[in-house]
Amino acid sequence: MKQQIELIVNGDRYSLSVEPWRTLNEVLRDDLNLTGTKLGCGSGDCGACTVIVDGRSVSSCLTLAVSVSGRDIRTVEGLARSGEELHAIQESFIENGAIQCGFCTAGMEMSAYYLLSHNPAPSEGEIRAGLSGNLCRCTGYNQIVEAIGVAAEKMRNQSKAGGER
Ligand code: FES
Ligand code: FES
Repeated sequence: MKQQIELIVNGDRYSLSVEPWRTLNEVLRDDLNLTGTKLGCGSGDCGACTVIVDGRSVSSCLTLAVSVSGRDIRTVEGLARSGEELHAIQESFIENGAIQCGFCTAGMEMSAYYLLSHNPAPSEGEIRAGLSGNLCRCTGYNQIVEAIGVAAEKMRNQSKAGGER
């Protein structure tokens, strides 16, 4: 039997009626058309489906939509403040060649966002540890690690300038 839930995604509220077995990933992609969040393995191994729920990084493929009713969810579509201005993490991924096929990118960026919200100046080792749940089949990881280091610096500068986000 369907259950009525309310999802708060990137600040927008959605009232939905969903079967209790449907995952957050399915509801984001299929019901809300927020297809930036990807579905890779579907079993918690690849990180392509990573989103932030109440400030914690979660695999949306393993999370039931009914279990996050009323919680604050952030997806890659909510990283940039407007449709025109990219988040520093997104800019750095582009500028540092950290995107090839792009399938892992949203999950990588959300893991980077989670890492940098808890550790604004991570070492290379801390960045690599922060990405340990995210797989990339294309880049060899080095450009992604570099991009996150550059993003951290940009975000620290934005924060000093009063533009924290
Ligand atoms: S799709 Fe969720 S971890 Fe791979
Ligand atoms: S860019 Fe293709 S999987 Fe990472």
